[in-house]
Parts: sequence; C-alpha cells; structure tokens
Amino acid sequence: MKPGIDVEVCEVGLRDGIQGIDTFFPTAGKQAWVAAEAAAGVPEIEVCSFVPPSVSVQFTDCLDVVADALAIDGLTVSALVPNLKGAERGFESGVHKLNFVLSVSESHNQANVRCSREESLERFRQIAELRDANADNRKVVLGAGLATALGCTIEGRVDPGEAVRTAERLLELGADEISVSDTVGYANPAQVREMFQLMRRHLGDEVVLAGHFHDTRGLGLANVHAALEEGVRQFDASLAGLGGCPFAPGASGNIVMDDLVFMLEAMGLKTGVDIDALVAVREIVAAGLPDEPLLGAIAKAGLPKGFNSGLAA
Ligand code: COA
Ligand code: ZN
Repeated sequence: MKPGIDVEVCEVGLRDGIQGIDTFFPTAGKQAWVAAEAAAGVPEIEVCSFVPPSVSVQFTDCLDVVADALAIDGLTVSALVPNLKGAERGFESGVHKLNFVLSVSESHNQANVRCSREESLERFRQIAELRDANADNRKVVLGAGLATALGCTIEGRVDPGEAVRTAERLLELGADEISVSDTVGYANPAQVREMFQLMRRHLGDEVVLAGHFHDTRGLGLANVHAALEEGVRQFDASLAGLGGCPFAPGASGNIVMDDLVFMLEAMGLKTGVDIDALVAVREIVAAGLPDEPLLGAIAKAGLPKGFNSGLAA
C-alpha cells in the first residue's frame, strides 16, 4: 500500500473496459487516459492485455502504451496475461505487475483461455518459473485473478471451496496476490463476506487479497463494502463503468471507478484520488469511444454540497 492511502484502487478500463469493444481506442487517447488518471491520483492502472490480436483488436499498441505509462512517476503499471507467451511479452515490456487469469469454473476457463484449469495452473507454474529466472523478472509482482469465483453464466453456482483450493495452489506455485473476481456480476454482499472469510481462514492473514467486481446486477458497490468489512483494501474498477469479458455470456461493465472513489472517500477512507480530476478524464474516454455509453452516478449528479474528500482533510 502506498503511503497515505487506506484503500488502493486500480483502473482496469484500459484492459477489461475496452477488451470487448470492436472500435480501436486510438493509442494517443489511451496514453492521455493513463496520464490524466495517474495525475488524478489513481495509484495503479492495468494498461493492457498481452493477448494475440485475434482475441482483441485493442492491444496491438500495448508496448507504446506501456512505455508511456512507465515514464509516469509513482504509477504502478500492470497488465493481464493468459499464458506463458503473454507473460514473456509482459516481462519484456517492463511492467511492474502481471495479472494471470484463470477461472474457477471449468467451462469459463475453456471459453476464455481455451484450455483446462489444470493446464492453466501448469501455465502459471511456468510463468512463476520465468519470474524466478532472473533479477529483473523477480521485481515484477505476479498477481493471480480468479475469474468466475462468485458465479458463472455457463455453469451457474460456483463452489467457494474450489475458489479457495485454486487460490491455495496458485500461492504454492508463487502468486504474490490473489484477486477474487465476480466476472459476471452474480455476487451479493453476504456471499462476498463468506468468500473472503473463507479465503482468510485457509490462506492466512499475510496473503494480499483484492476484489474485482462487475455491476451487472447493481450490487457492485455493495459487494465492495462487504469486502471492505472483511479487510480487503485493493479494488479494481473502470472509469465510467466500461467492461466485461467477451467470453462470458451476458457479462457487462466493471464497477464505476468514479463512484467507487466517491464511496470510499465519503466513508473517510483515503484513496489519494481527486474526484473532480477523475471525472474530467471521462472526456478522454468519450472522445476515444464515441459510441459507448458512459455510466456513473457521481458524474451525473455531482458531489454533495460541502463534500470533503480525504485529499482536503
Ligand atoms: N500473445 C501473443 N500471441 C500469442 C499469445 C499471446 N499471449 N498466445 C498465443 N499466441 C499466438 C501463438 O504464438 C500462435 O501464433 P501462430 O499461429 O502464429 O503460431 C497463436 O497465437 C495461437 O496460439 P495458441 O497457443 O494455440 O492460442 P489459443 O488460440 O489456444 O488461444 C489464448 C489461447 C490464451 C492466447 C487466448 O484464448 C486468449 O488470449 N485468451 C484471453 C481471453 C481474454 O483476454 N479474456 C478476457 C480477460 S478475462
Ligand atoms: Zn472483469
């Protein structure tokens, strides 16, 4: 956790947000988005995905976007990787953090990364080996994201015990942190509480746990609150609520970054983010994606009169 911050928010709009959109977001626009959101105080940005161009049109310019982002002082630059080839490209790019993805439900893993969960774990083992192979790679944080941990649109209910067992195996193989993802927005706050309680009981107090929620059924911020009460202090979100996995039927946007920051700051939890500056970044997103609806309550309604964020306190 960076100094002076209670909760770390990570912008995933440049990855989750745009991965399923067919209109190419121009490179200069992505760079401006990263720069403006970092200037607003967002401490971490997942700037791209190291996937083949056949999977998404958005990431052919990933090296340009990463290079620009790495030049921003203090910003943690992360990227998603689905396999060893993606990790090789990721380590080479110089990002600070790689987020490996595998699903807790077998069917979504097959749909998303075209292999079994066992094969994904084997891929992760190889990626961790590559991380350990040299001093530069060892500086890179290796996150593991548990997709469909809280439900799957192909299989329905997902066994929380399986999510915990998968997390245990990833940690044994060398994961530095575990992100619990509600890929398709099935979760409710009681379920989120139980999931993080179970994770803590089995994984111990030291393991870094993060939350990745989608607002598909309107419970995204309620789920964040439940996770907060269980001690989770890292959350992904996407500016204007863009997002959704193209390989999960019915998936839609991430929780709205602007509204997440508002909720946290209103609760007295410091994020380091200036909400007005954050809301202004939406203009860059609107220019890059003129046909996408931009969601968000704070952008629409404005801050409450006399609102005092942690920045001003
Ligand atoms: N980056 C660039 N190229 C890659 C790559 C990567 N990460 N992984 C594989 N390739 C290339 C291979 O070299 C091969 O190229 P070639 O045809 O020129 O030899 C080609 O892509 C096919 O490789 P293969 O290993 O057979 O991949 P696949 O077709 O089985 O696809 C994944 C597997 C993992 C690459 C693909 O399913 C994927 O990217 N999934 C991620 C989906 C996603 O982003 N979901 C949203 C996030 S949750
Ligand atoms: Zn997601």
